[in-house]
Amino acid sequence: MNALSKDLTKLVKMIEKIESRSGEPDRFRPRFHLAPPAGWLNDPNGLCQYQGLYHAFFQYSPFDVEGGLKLWGHSTSRDMLHWEYQGAALYPDQPFDCHGVYSGCALTEDGRISFYYTGNVKLDGDFDYVTEGREANTILVESGDGFRFGRKQLLMTNEDYPEDVTKHVRDPKVWKENGIYYMIQGARRKDDVGEALLFASSDRIHWLLKNRITTKEPFGFMWECPDYFEIDGKKILSASVQGLEGEKWKDKNVYQSGYFEVKGHVAEQCTLSEYVLWDCGFDYYAPQSFETEDGRRVQIGWMGMPDCPEHTNRTIEDGWQHCFTIPREIYVKDGRVLQRPVRELEERKRILAEATGGLYVEEEPVYEARIAEIKENQFHAVLGEELILEYRDSRFEMRFINPSKDNASGGRTLRYQEIETLNNVTILTDVSTCEVFVNDGEYVFSTRFYPENYGLQIQADEAKLKMWELVS
Ligand code: FRU
Repeated sequence: MNALSKDLTKLVKMIEKIESRSGEPDRFRPRFHLAPPAGWLNDPNGLCQYQGLYHAFFQYSPFDVEGGLKLWGHSTSRDMLHWEYQGAALYPDQPFDCHGVYSGCALTEDGRISFYYTGNVKLDGDFDYVTEGREANTILVESGDGFRFGRKQLLMTNEDYPEDVTKHVRDPKVWKENGIYYMIQGARRKDDVGEALLFASSDRIHWLLKNRITTKEPFGFMWECPDYFEIDGKKILSASVQGLEGEKWKDKNVYQSGYFEVKGHVAEQCTLSEYVLWDCGFDYYAPQSFETEDGRRVQIGWMGMPDCPEHTNRTIEDGWQHCFTIPREIYVKDGRVLQRPVRELEERKRILAEATGGLYVEEEPVYEARIAEIKENQFHAVLGEELILEYRDSRFEMRFINPSKDNASGGRTLRYQEIETLNNVTILTDVSTCEVFVNDGEYVFSTRFYPENYGLQIQADEAKLKMWELVS
């Protein structure tokens, strides 16, 4: 640890202490969703399970609740639901990462975790910070226990990336396949087209560019936080895309997170399918996945959205902002890629109510509700007297009754998705988070909300309704 990181460690601890002592009650802190102790959180980083323990790192700005200099925060868990904050893990303390320890991943192997991330550097001067004035360094740092870290090694600089990409290259995700290590990174080309760069290595340290992956037609100007995994014979390339324009995207979030199915091998010739959104709600970005020791593919997203001044999270008043989604198992059924909350949540459920056709429960801030066997495509729910979920005219809507920056909506309005048939809906509410899984998680809608009263009212003729409180 150098002198700078030593002092930064002290400073971060001081800030976290001051925030935890401040008078405001932490009325909106979720119980099962990872949130920062103070300041700002964005992308999930370095997700892994190592020697039984789950590690989640996160983009963390303890100094500024609106986001500023990025560190990696660190939390651990035994069940992916109860998270224990372990302190800041990686500081911007080297010349090659001095403007931010940006997003990256973890690779667990042979009694160590290798963390790969982007070291962000912004040069002083009159630059556009796209084609010049910026460095995006690929860095490796290893750990034997997940808590103490070795020396940071600079693996690649902008010189190692293709000449026709801008300085925006970042967010390495690494995996191993048939004895070869692969790394995928997001990039913005100089002609403003987003793509993914695919590198390979035989020793996880020296990397060679093998492929550049993009769609036939330009698809956004930048791909952030790419991820790649295989599940049930499907090859999934996930990317958070900036700059999508046109009719299809006009009522959606400012940036998107979704996936392509890959035909061929990512390191060779390959083509991409249509892009499918991971989440159709207001707050979802930069997801990352990992494989649990029992072989599940689990994905966690940032339950927030960058560059979105029309939203205000009311937790800012309490000195912190943003959280992760519930960890979600990705699974394939009848050829469709689906998501469901991790099965560990089952153990937290205690039955509250059971009904047919309709349900009204008051004052419950942390619950799961399941509406199954929906008939005639009919479904209407009001959450916290503020948020409406409704199926009508072949579309599923999530909308706020009164979109205003100072109430439950925090300025959020309406999100919707065309869905031909509605079979079932699962609602997961955790104080200020709401995640809605439609048709066994074929479509998901996530949002933050800040209700004054926690009522849940559901109307779905003849459907089977069940509601559980979720206990710690
Ligand atoms: C995505 C992102 C990443 C970057 C990080 C910086 O939200 O912009 O591309 O590494 O956040 O915090």
